[in-house]
Amino acid sequence: MRDAAQKRGYYVCRKEKTAVKLETRGLCFCYEGKQVLEKIDFSVKEGEFVSLLGPSGCGKSTLLNILAGILPVQKGEILVDGQPVKGLSSHFAYMPQQDLLLPWKTILSNVCLYGRLHRSEEQARELALSSMEVFGLKGYENRYPRELSGGMRQRAAFLRTALCEADILLLDEPFGALDVITRGEMQDWLLSMRARLGRTTLLVTHDIEEAIYLSDRILVLGGSPAEIRKEIVVEGYQRDREWLFAQRELYGEIYYFLKGESKR
Ligand SMILES: Nc1ncnc2c1ncn2[C@@H]1O[C@H](COP(=O)(O)OP(=O)(O)OP(=O)(O)O)[C@@H](O)[C@H]1O
Ligand SMILES: [Mg+2]
Repeated sequence: MRDAAQKRGYYVCRKEKTAVKLETRGLCFCYEGKQVLEKIDFSVKEGEFVSLLGPSGCGKSTLLNILAGILPVQKGEILVDGQPVKGLSSHFAYMPQQDLLLPWKTILSNVCLYGRLHRSEEQARELALSSMEVFGLKGYENRYPRELSGGMRQRAAFLRTALCEADILLLDEPFGALDVITRGEMQDWLLSMRARLGRTTLLVTHDIEEAIYLSDRILVLGGSPAEIRKEIVVEGYQRDREWLFAQRELYGEIYYFLKGESKR
């Protein structure tokens, strides 16, 4: 059973995660006088996969933008490996909510875009080409984004992010725009990639099932301004759809919590 799961790759890596990789302390954020985030404190361990779950408009993208250095830290601090981090930092690779592939560039050029910041053009191409198969993009290297399906474009954007030499991946609703079946396939695929990538990951989503399926831990954002209202550790060493469908109780717990939050 375990071997089969390992072959399929649906095997959540449970190696000892002790060192704290990322920590936020008292992060607050205002847009033109409107406070969106209030005292955001959380930490993510090395190699851990954590989801940030919350209703639309609660401030999830704002939080990722602050971590990625696109928005400034107005109050509080961000620490990586115990050291304060400010502004754009090579610790983070960010996949924003829209795929942002450049329509006039081929898939290979798009995928190499950020990798070229860290490596020579030749090295970036080599690494991208050797990763195409596992990302389901083999044969599409010289196609343009408009020639790919939505799922393939998301995989290309994800590969571009994964090729950055950063130790923390920030993923903002990477499958939000996909239909339910493609979305499910992409979630299966990301689950199978988790152990291979072995990267500390923060995934933003408003999909409860997605958060349960992929995460070691879920942080639920709520309130206005938003703060972290609940933390859930997701047990489950070997995961597949059967396992996910059996998590109805956990799904219900999170659903009713979010529903209660939206009425506050
Ligand atoms: N540039 C901006 N200027 C002013 N207000 C903004 C700006 N960007 C976002 N906001 C507001 O801040 C709040 C949080 O927005 P944010 O995009 O972070 O939410 P979100 O949780 O990512 O939502 P979604 O799930 O829909 O992507 C919203 O009320 C939004 O209207
Ligand atoms: Mg968002």
